[in-house]
Amino acid sequence: QKILADELPDTEVIVVSNREPYIHEKTPDGVVLRKPASGLVSALEPITRTCGGTWIAHGGGSADRETVDQQDHVAVPPEDPTYTLRRVWLSEEELKGYYLGFANEGMWPLCHIAFTRPIFRAADWDAYQAVNRKFADAVIAEAKSDRPIVLVQDYHFALLPRLIRERLPNAIIITFWHIPWPNAEVFSICPWREQILDGLLGSSILGFHIQLHCNNFTESVDRFLESRIDREGAAISYKGGTTLVHAYPISIEWPKKPKFITTDPSRTLRDRHGIPDDVKIAIGVERLDYTKGVLDRFHALDEFFTQHSDWIGRLVFLQIAAPSRSDLPAYKLLHEECLALVAEINDRYGTDGYQPIILLDEHHTQEELAELYRAADICVVSSLHDGMNLVAKEFVASRDDERGVLILSTFAGASRELLEALIVNPFDPSSMGEAFFHALTMPEGEMRERMQRMREVVRSNNVFRWAGSMLVDAARLRKRAALTSAS
Ligand code: G6P
Repeated sequence: QKILADELPDTEVIVVSNREPYIHEKTPDGVVLRKPASGLVSALEPITRTCGGTWIAHGGGSADRETVDQQDHVAVPPEDPTYTLRRVWLSEEELKGYYLGFANEGMWPLCHIAFTRPIFRAADWDAYQAVNRKFADAVIAEAKSDRPIVLVQDYHFALLPRLIRERLPNAIIITFWHIPWPNAEVFSICPWREQILDGLLGSSILGFHIQLHCNNFTESVDRFLESRIDREGAAISYKGGTTLVHAYPISIEWPKKPKFITTDPSRTLRDRHGIPDDVKIAIGVERLDYTKGVLDRFHALDEFFTQHSDWIGRLVFLQIAAPSRSDLPAYKLLHEECLALVAEINDRYGTDGYQPIILLDEHHTQEELAELYRAADICVVSSLHDGMNLVAKEFVASRDDERGVLILSTFAGASRELLEALIVNPFDPSSMGEAFFHALTMPEGEMRERMQRMREVVRSNNVFRWAGSMLVDAARLRKRAALTSAS
């Protein structure tokens, strides 16, 4: 907020994402408000709440239409509104092609090295282009000046920066790509690679979580477009414009009032699931997605029980697997595989009254998740490939008791910052199994020291710093442009 006021005075902020920050749903008890399980939303919402402005997103809730005004606007957060949510309506056909098809069967597996073959259909591409145009129209309709800052979010909108640039040449367009960017060889699979790159280079700033993804993007541009690349300045000049390509590691809002834990935080969880006090608790929290390495962590657990059979009966794994994109075959298959593997492991090691894995495939509120994070002895993030992974950071931020061990995949962006986690390769079940042993036998002092260091990192590199550094860079670009045009 301060950076905006000081460095970019009188500049309106427009955020664009597919997922909306507030979803209104019809239920038998009336309309309820839900916050989606999305890393993107949990990072962007505190920023928009603080800075104000307009957030444009697809209105996907069953009661969304009933809650907007004539301009499809709704003031949010409902309890104390500080910004406007503008909903864009998409038809079943548009959603099928743009969201399920091109974004989630094409771009998502393309960008994650999770060995799921991307599917590219011409009809999905048509829908993707049409929906990007629809959102560009919404941005133009919402913009009150010709120089707004537009914050474009993620792989749903690769074409949007160029479409906005054509109609608002003086806008500052900051695009953040929340998922990895693959190497040029892998990226070349996409039949519309040139158009995707061209679209993104309409941005003033293009952000990724880590430098590797910036390098991969730059290499892709180098390979497929005629452009001028300034590697030292991290800038790409193309079609008369310049895009700064930079790493901005995303984060979370540091919890405001840390409640120091005096009672056993695992009490309710143990009562609810019948977990005895002397049994340790490991947790996994994610959308059920093939990039998250959920099956792989269960294989590691299997390996751990084989190698350390004295732990059978003394460790329970609680896995939250919120249903996600369940209309897609790859996700349905994963759900079935997951149920089968859990049944197999529970069958192998379970006894009357002891179930090694408890799978909860439903949505949980932020409060329930915070309770879970606090109750855990171990939190496992075993993504096969992940832009950042905010579960790792949320776990650390929740542990004001400075206890708990994080087992973290080396292929999640978070592993570049949370160096005191137990870093594992999820493709190697036996070494991940040993990480369980290491975590469970870690001396108290070492556990605290590791957690304290990780908490310092997340506290200072929080989501406001993430947004702040992009805005500072944007202000710098605008000043430089003003100086150039004056000279
Ligand atoms: C995760 C990814 C985001 C992405 C979101 C989409 O949170 O990290 O980059 O935008 O999934 O999820 P959705 O449920 O909206 O398809």
